[in-house]
Amino acid sequence: MAFAFIIASVALVTSVLAIYPGSFDPITLGHLDIIERGCKLFDQVIVAVLRNPNKTPLFTVPERIEQIRRSTPHLSNLEVDSFDGLTINYAKMRHASALLRGLRVLSDFEMELQMAHTNKTLSAQIETVFLATSNEYSFLSSSLVKEIARFGGAIDHLVPKHVAVDIYQCFAKIPPVSAQTTNLVPTPDHPKTELLIESLPDRET
Ligand code: PNS
Repeated sequence: MAFAFIIASVALVTSVLAIYPGSFDPITLGHLDIIERGCKLFDQVIVAVLRNPNKTPLFTVPERIEQIRRSTPHLSNLEVDSFDGLTINYAKMRHASALLRGLRVLSDFEMELQMAHTNKTLSAQIETVFLATSNEYSFLSSSLVKEIARFGGAIDHLVPKHVAVDIYQCFAKIPPVSAQTTNLVPTPDHPKTELLIESLPDRET
């Protein structure tokens, strides 16, 4: 009994927890790429959605949390949570060892480095770990996705398919038929959701 307790305690102390903070308004395939790779690197990852009273997001925090959860049922060492205030305070509260951030292009680097240095002055124990975003998502951002959808463009290749449905519904747009969407025939009972989900192919992970 005591032996099992010691083993469990050692496992707890040595397990490495990373926080992946962000707005995730909404989650994109680029975020998902970082989350999946982070879950392979760390024992546990917490995706932490910032509650930011200064921004007017497209989705509420609970909606964003739900979108992330629905995108990640295959990741058993992932938790999705929200926080407000400083990221570093949340990371300390959760006893995290690292902050995880994705780097897409050179222009990300300046801001990310500034954040990493600032956070280091606030807690020397917590490291910021950058993952280079996979090539195919290096251009991708939540803002870009929202802009495309607002003007009726196809986004089903940029975000998880249920998120694409949420966005189209927000903008009250009929989902456009893209290379990956076929046979969209809205019915009164099914505005767009079910039909779009059925018609989109599963994403390869
Ligand atoms: O997805 P985003 O918008 O690029 O994420 C930015 C985020 C949430 C990581 C950053 O703005 C942040 O950490 N905000 C919380 C407030 C804070 O800790 N500010 C000091 C950062 S040095």
